[in-house]
Amino acid sequence: MVLNMKAIQVQNKGKESSLTIGEVPLPSPNEDEIRVKTKAAAINRADLDQRKGHYPPPEGATEILGLEMAGVVEECGSNVDQWQVGDRVFGLLPGGGYAEYCAIHKDMALPMPEAMDFTEATAVPETFLTAFQSLVWLGTLREGDTVLIHAAGSGVGTSAIQLARKLFDTQIIATAGKQHKLDTAENLGATFTYNYKEQNYAEEIIHNLGEDSVDLIIDFIGKPYWYKNIEVLAMDGRVVYLSFLGGHKIKNMSLAPILSKRLKIMGSTLRSRSRDYKIGLTADFWKRTQSLFEEQKLYPVIDSTFRWTETEQAHRRMQQNKNTGKIVLTGM
Ligand SMILES: NC(=O)c1ccc[n+]([C@@H]2O[C@H](COP(=O)([O-])OP(=O)(O)OC[C@H]3O[C@@H](n4cnc5c(N)ncnc54)[C@H](OP(=O)(O)O)[C@@H]3O)[C@@H](O)[C@H]2O)c1
Repeated sequence: MVLNMKAIQVQNKGKESSLTIGEVPLPSPNEDEIRVKTKAAAINRADLDQRKGHYPPPEGATEILGLEMAGVVEECGSNVDQWQVGDRVFGLLPGGGYAEYCAIHKDMALPMPEAMDFTEATAVPETFLTAFQSLVWLGTLREGDTVLIHAAGSGVGTSAIQLARKLFDTQIIATAGKQHKLDTAENLGATFTYNYKEQNYAEEIIHNLGEDSVDLIIDFIGKPYWYKNIEVLAMDGRVVYLSFLGGHKIKNMSLAPILSKRLKIMGSTLRSRSRDYKIGLTADFWKRTQSLFEEQKLYPVIDSTFRWTETEQAHRRMQQNKNTGKIVLTGM
């Protein structure tokens, strides 16, 4: 007998897509997985792209939206010995968070700190792991570096500022398009903040910190920031591209500064990485941050919480760039 559960389903994938709650088969964990009763799931920009048809799940992953969850272990596969039924866990998923239950590999799940509730825990994995991967594994951030974090009010931006502040003694510059997002960035540890709609951040950085002063840039915007980024980067500077919210085609681009400043221009994804890579990333992240989360020195910035029956409204809030930090779904 096939058991069913409720999950959010995308109707008419594309520009006119809508969301409904429907019945799908209950995921059955394999020997290395646990089945979790989902208590909360968080929204990511990628979910908006997936329902538009621009961001298909990796091969073998469920079509159900949702890249992260927090919940309670309900069943364990035969090779699972570190988890027990009833444990509170959270973790990164290749999809499947917007549902009553999900299956997750035993080594991708993390134990929820005592002080965290499900709403907070689900808001950690995707943005903190992305930020950690970008700053530490790819960007090789070092003590004394200056780091520029764009879209500072985004889920990834609010996580990256905290990691750069709490894991390293760095100088942090942040950009965003609204004053309250810049205020949040400052509260989280940014030293210099610029409103990209009103200021030329490159001119401001050069004025305040001097020429060639930024060691690492985390960029989600792309085209409109390319020349400004190149202008402020220091010798041996690095840029990690995570998205191109402002476009990705740059006309008449000169490669000369890449050579003369010995720059490293990188791009990255998280969802399409192998499971082993993600297990390694999760383990390294947790080794370096667990006590900080337990002591609430690191925490997800929660913008708002919606019942999962209101996911459409929650998506609209993100689409309109209204959120500062994470939007969370509950009640599944
Ligand atoms: N490659 C990866 O591994 C990876 C992983 C996770 C996320 N991402 C990407 O990282 C980005 C952040 O994700 P998220 O879920 O944290 O996003 P989010 O919370 O929705 O924040 C995105 C913010 O970017 C700003 N923005 C949007 N369009 C812009 C433009 N044209 N110019 C300047 N700023 C703009 C807006 O803030 P303002 O009000 O400041 O304009 C918006 O609120 C997304 O693009 C996502 O797809 C990539």
